Amino acid sequence: MKTKGLAPLRIGPWSVFPPFVAAPMAGVTDKPFRAVLKDHRCPLVYTEMISDKALTYANRNTMELLDITGEPRPIAVQIFGSEPAVMAEAARIVEAAGASLIDINMGCPAPKIVRNGEGSCLLKTPDLAVEIAESVVRAVQVPVTVKMRIGWSSGRIVAPELAPRLEAVGVQALTVHGRTREMFYSGQADWSVIAETVGRVSIPVIGNGDVWEPDDALRMLVETGCAAVMIGRGCMGNPWIFSRLVRWAETGEMPPPPSPEERINQALLHLEHIVALKGEDRGVREMRGHLSWYLKGIRGASRLRAEINQAPDRESVVRLLTDYREQARPTPDMP
Ligand SMILES: Cc1cc2nc3c(=O)[nH]c(=O)nc-3n(C[C@H](O)[C@H](O)[C@H](O)COP(=O)(O)O)c2cc1C
Repeated sequence: MKTKGLAPLRIGPWSVFPPFVAAPMAGVTDKPFRAVLKDHRCPLVYTEMISDKALTYANRNTMELLDITGEPRPIAVQIFGSEPAVMAEAARIVEAAGASLIDINMGCPAPKIVRNGEGSCLLKTPDLAVEIAESVVRAVQVPVTVKMRIGWSSGRIVAPELAPRLEAVGVQALTVHGRTREMFYSGQADWSVIAETVGRVSIPVIGNGDVWEPDDALRMLVETGCAAVMIGRGCMGNPWIFSRLVRWAETGEMPPPPSPEERINQALLHLEHIVALKGEDRGVREMRGHLSWYLKGIRGASRLRAEINQAPDRESVVRLLTDYREQARPTPDMP
């Protein structure tokens, strides 16, 4: 594919180029992983979703989720809730913390979120969804965006109708994940509803769902006409998806995927970031998921993963990874 025609994603004062962004993911896109994504030149990252009520109580764990100090801009902070006034209050706190964009979660399918009328449940109460968006837009100066699923179930697809209503109250961009709430993360994202939504609004639509390889991102741009592509699971343990897309946008050449050695080196660096920020015990524990993603598909990964999950401290994880790296290194040809 040619780079010609690739335009930046523009939201308020921000210009995001190339138009590929990392998805908000609870338990994944924490501060250390955002640093990794930035090292790979991802032009826009999101925090994990943060509860509006918890923000107004200012509890310690929540303030850690909101810590975006020292990170390059733009950065989006995502909030969730179901009460317009509390969401507005939370948005003011997030703006004061330095968010470049405030994103409202209308997609989370988790039962404990939906039970409270939050996340994807708002797709069943579109009037309330619009009221929340309007209340947040009025509360802050920074651009407000919404991330939603296409609907609650296949019989209740709402994105194309809801999108113009959100635009009308001042929402400046929409992300559409091509799944219904009922699908959770199974089945295939329906990109045709993303395309339909693009046709209903003049604000940028960010397409999302099932982008695993750089080529999928390029295909989504072409097939849906979306202004940008958001990548979730496809960047877990794989920040190269961004560096490869950026290189492609700059040069027209798509770099090859990383070697096992590069993956181990990146995992080691990520481990350092996480231990520096969260301390050794917690860092090593939280790194296990990331390590299993970094190792996906490489030879001997399942044994290495099992050993890492038993490793008690940073030093043993480092040793397991460096030993593996030495074995994986291609042996030079004999003269
Ligand atoms: C572990 C995990 C955590 C997630 N957390 C959030 C979240 O906090 N907020 C949100 O809007 N979406 C969240 N999502 C959904 C993703 O942002 C994205 O919409 C979804 O994974 C589909 O994109 P993908 O096919 O590229 O993964 C999460 C997804 C995963 C896998």
